[in-house]
Amino acid sequence: MPVRHEVFVIEQQVPPELELDEFDAISTHVVAYSKTNEPVGTGRLLPDGHIGRVAVLKPWRGQGIGRQIMQALMQQARQQQLPGVELSAQYHARSFYEDMGFQAEGDIYMEAGIEHIAMRLAF
Ligand code: COA
Repeated sequence: MPVRHEVFVIEQQVPPELELDEFDAISTHVVAYSKTNEPVGTGRLLPDGHIGRVAVLKPWRGQGIGRQIMQALMQQARQQQLPGVELSAQYHARSFYEDMGFQAEGDIYMEAGIEHIAMRLAF
């Protein structure tokens, strides 16, 4: 939650009431910790295969942490025998997900004032 608050609410100005939702209680959460046990990145997997809230603290970006979080979430989805995963990507981050095999679907849409696009990966 502290990582999500810093990235989404403070950095991206998403309203806090949109950032936290009822799906947190039923999701599998992945947290990346620094060597000094500080949480620096996170992401969640819903039971239906939706990945979301993928975030890495700004000073820790560009070091492969986001990719590791995605790999852990996809591994969880495979263990849960889901047929694939999908997500609502912030449009600027679509190549981050394309690199991991996701394909964009449909048109760009607005969510929390930010451009998004649906993306999917079948196992
Ligand atoms: N746009 C395009 N490509 C990106 C990117 C972005 N915003 N962020 C990372 N990439 C690329 C990197 O260049 C890297 O490619 P490479 O391996 O060929 O160098 C690859 O994706 C993996 O990068 P990685 O270092 O694992 O990512 P990260 O730890 O910096 O985390 C985010 C990526 C998107 C999670 C991070 O930038 C972030 O928290 N952004 C703010 C929140 C956000 O927008 N979340 C996405 C919600 S859909």
